[in-house]
Amino acid sequence: ERTEIVSLYKNTPADGTVVTVCGWAKNIRDSKNIGFIALSDGGCFKTLQVVLEAGKLANYDEVVHTGLYSSLRVVGRIVLTPQAKQPFELNADSVEILGDCPADEYPLQKKKMSMEYLRTMPTLRPRTNTFNAAFRVRSVAAYAIHKFFQENGFVYAHSPLLTASDCEGAGEMFRVTTLDLDNVPKNEDGTVDYTKDFFEKPVNLTVSGQLEAEAMAMAFGKVYTFGPTFRAEKSFTTRHAAEFWMIEPEMAFCDLNGYMDTAEAMTKYVIRYVLDNCPDEMAFFNQFIDKGLIERLELVANSEFGRISYTDAIEILKKNNKKFQFPVEWGVDIQTEHERYLTEVVFKKPVFVTDYPKEIKSFYMKQNADGKTVAAADMLVPGIGELIGGSQREEDYDKLVTRMDELGLDKSSYDWYLNLRKFGGVEHAGYGLGFERMIMYLTGIQNIRDVLPFPRTAYGF
Ligand code: 4AD
Ligand code: MG
Repeated sequence: ERTEIVSLYKNTPADGTVVTVCGWAKNIRDSKNIGFIALSDGGCFKTLQVVLEAGKLANYDEVVHTGLYSSLRVVGRIVLTPQAKQPFELNADSVEILGDCPADEYPLQKKKMSMEYLRTMPTLRPRTNTFNAAFRVRSVAAYAIHKFFQENGFVYAHSPLLTASDCEGAGEMFRVTTLDLDNVPKNEDGTVDYTKDFFEKPVNLTVSGQLEAEAMAMAFGKVYTFGPTFRAEKSFTTRHAAEFWMIEPEMAFCDLNGYMDTAEAMTKYVIRYVLDNCPDEMAFFNQFIDKGLIERLELVANSEFGRISYTDAIEILKKNNKKFQFPVEWGVDIQTEHERYLTEVVFKKPVFVTDYPKEIKSFYMKQNADGKTVAAADMLVPGIGELIGGSQREEDYDKLVTRMDELGLDKSSYDWYLNLRKFGGVEHAGYGLGFERMIMYLTGIQNIRDVLPFPRTAYGF
């Protein structure tokens, strides 16, 4: 019967216990009489040191000369090693090579390979320490997010991926069609004849699950989505992907401050959970990817986030305009360089920027009494910039209709959304957390393509 390596680390067995383990040889060292294999079965970041004695193993030479990442089954005895770095090792009685990995063909080398080079091997890079740690943190962080919302009474709502509406109104959508693009059916006036398409109307991949989340929140009070979203924005940055995952909580009877309190509590919860549950991975990132990472995250988990209005933030930024590639004035959409200045230089911690000009924000945001700004807030964090975007929603039917008309939106595909205001409408607010940016923040990894197992970005898969 096979023992998983992680269970050995959880409950150290008694000296001399006989166990069978299976795994991949991540490192092999050998001399004439004795050899060492660092064995990983993927269940934890730690490897198990397997000791091979030439005198004991008939196939000693074959095993120590097998390629790295060959898969092995080892039967042996646990030897406690209180003096050594690892608390125990496995002295092998027999080793079976399950699958050979020929070193002359295998593309992963023992020497350090660049992130760029590893990106060309998306199916193999999860085997490397950096990516193995990153994708496990991804899994644990996803679990932490579910745990946070479930423990706080939120219902997990699944929003559709195929949709006719454009939530962010930015026109950055991927069209989904069954029409033959080489021979598109046309109406007499030259427009596309969508009656020949599968849904008989234009349909896109969703850019956000928010609008449907609002509908669900009007039934459950508190909901969250957690799913893939798609944006056809040609932003050639290290923080934009065409396919990314978003968490979108939506809360009835909640205003802008309620959203910010929830977002802050969630962020701290996820940081705490990952620090507590991925100590080996986080120690690895702290040592090899981003020195000081753990200390900084600990600080964030225990500090109060900053809050500043857009108008006040612009005043601060304006005084420093010569430092920026794009100088700011009231009314402009602040860019990553400004976001990072605010959070890294001014606040030195996460900060919410609130009450943006309505012109640079989405149609559904609640208009403030000043007639110029909306009750929106972005949460900015050091090293990344915008991690979360959210707002209180406009619950006034007439104001929302007027705003949609001003922006020239086609109200016919939003009547169900408008009706939410008519049928027991209530103050509500919500936000969107970019999951990949959260993983970048947690790991110190600089490029979004290195926190997505199989990234889809504008510049090629
Ligand atoms: O600010 P955004 O566009 O907000 C919305 O979509 C709202 N509907 C959310 C809501 O209120 N329910 O996107 C939210 C977050 C951003 O803060 C960012 O972290 C992430 O999603 N994001 C992206 N992440 C990766 N690649 C992209 N192309 C992204 N675009 C946005
Ligand atoms: Mg945003």
